[in-house]
Amino acid sequence: MHPNGPHSGQAADPVVMTIFGASGDLTKRKLIPALCNLAEAKLMPHQFALIGFSSGDFTTESWRAQLTAEIGGFVGQPIDPKIWSWLMERTYYIKGDFGNAADFQKLKDQIAAAAQAHQVGDNKYFYMAVAPRFFAPVVQQLGQAGLTKQDANHYARVIVEKPFGRDLDSAKQLNRDLKAVLDENQIYRIDHYLGKETVQNIMVFRFGNSIFEPIWNRHYIDHVQITASETVGVEHRGGYYETSGALRDMVPNHLFQLLTLTAMEPPVSFAADAVRGKQVDVLQAIQPPAPEDVLSRMVRGQYGEGDGKEGRLPAYRNEEDVAPDSSTDTYVAFKLAIDNWRWAGVPFYLRTGKRLAKRATEIAIQFRRTPFVLFRDTGVQNLQANKLIISIQPGEKISIQFGAKIPGPVMHLGPVNMEFDYARDFGASKSTGYERLMYDCMIGDATLFQRADMVEAGWNIVQSVMDVWKALPVRNFPNYASGSWGPQEAEELLHRDGREWRKIE
Ligand code: BG6
Repeated sequence: MHPNGPHSGQAADPVVMTIFGASGDLTKRKLIPALCNLAEAKLMPHQFALIGFSSGDFTTESWRAQLTAEIGGFVGQPIDPKIWSWLMERTYYIKGDFGNAADFQKLKDQIAAAAQAHQVGDNKYFYMAVAPRFFAPVVQQLGQAGLTKQDANHYARVIVEKPFGRDLDSAKQLNRDLKAVLDENQIYRIDHYLGKETVQNIMVFRFGNSIFEPIWNRHYIDHVQITASETVGVEHRGGYYETSGALRDMVPNHLFQLLTLTAMEPPVSFAADAVRGKQVDVLQAIQPPAPEDVLSRMVRGQYGEGDGKEGRLPAYRNEEDVAPDSSTDTYVAFKLAIDNWRWAGVPFYLRTGKRLAKRATEIAIQFRRTPFVLFRDTGVQNLQANKLIISIQPGEKISIQFGAKIPGPVMHLGPVNMEFDYARDFGASKSTGYERLMYDCMIGDATLFQRADMVEAGWNIVQSVMDVWKALPVRNFPNYASGSWGPQEAEELLHRDGREWRKIE
């Protein structure tokens, strides 16, 4: 733990960071720019070294040269040249094989040499920017090389990227494999949604303000909608996506993070285990759907051709590396119930998909209606119930919709908005979304990382859906046009309950 406690705004302690998969996209797009932003915010330790490890054919010199040549294309504003040369002077590269013990000895030697050259000491931090099949083997090699040992004064931590397993069994197996080498407090399972400002703000909004919490329950809330819609298709990730699909790709991780932060009970503190314990409680209060519920409450979809801004868009089945008869879901919508005192009887509707009409991630809290009788004959039938919208992207906003009198001599009502806009009120921040997560790992704050039991509780719910879907192959794919809002069945899911999806403009 950082001597002054987490988030004291101080630079993290000295550390050698190793990135596995250093020559991949994530490293240049997110990780290196995030390190620069942290340095600019004075949160990086001055005594620091970075080692890139991957199979790419580089030397330290050629990797530094490549990063220097390419970094401009991945950051919005130019990086301060002093920060860049500070980082490059302490950046090294090792070409290695993730399964080769001798290469991990080379890594060990390089870590020791860099630690000495930059007076770092013994803290180590490893970032797995690699394909999931390498997570366990790399950790095993690290263990065998003696690189995962920590003591009271020095840490060794590992950040694991998603996907964390591809079903309940593989997630459990991965947890077992990692824990054979590491303690839970050394494992940082990343979910990049938790790096988004508005997602972090959900807790502050709920628990740092006294006006919302008293109404945050079944007495006042009619239902909740969580949407993560994308306009992009599968892009060049057909190979991965064919083994995943929308349900696995987005639900047990990103959507369940949004769900649990929205629905959790107040934690006793913001300590990692206090918060994560409350998030797990939410997942455990969700009954995994029975087969008949999967059929009636879960909708899967796959995009067909359609029209987008750039013209005609191809069907999923015609994308690169996708089978022409693929039954992979690119859309999923469903209804969940949280069986606890706060939420009994309040449906949570979730949807996510690719090639939808708009890019938008948001949580919409729909409050109950007022009794009509008072405003009879005033157009109240046109008045919608209060809504609170937490917009996560593309704009980061929180808005409250309420009814107001339309000016004039006659009593007419209309909906209006009160809005908080991050960029307008706080200015645009220079962020890749990874800064906070990387800093938190360096200061030992795991609040925004997934604990083993959270991951397994998420997969437990999703597994029952996958089992039914596997047993009953779809016959109607593709069932929504690119550029639309998804399959008709998703509309019907809400219509059956007398509700509708919020129209996202
Ligand atoms: C990733 C998924 O985890 O999240 C992608 O693998 C998806 O398929 C992405 O596009 C969405 O992230 P964001 O930050 O663009 O909402």
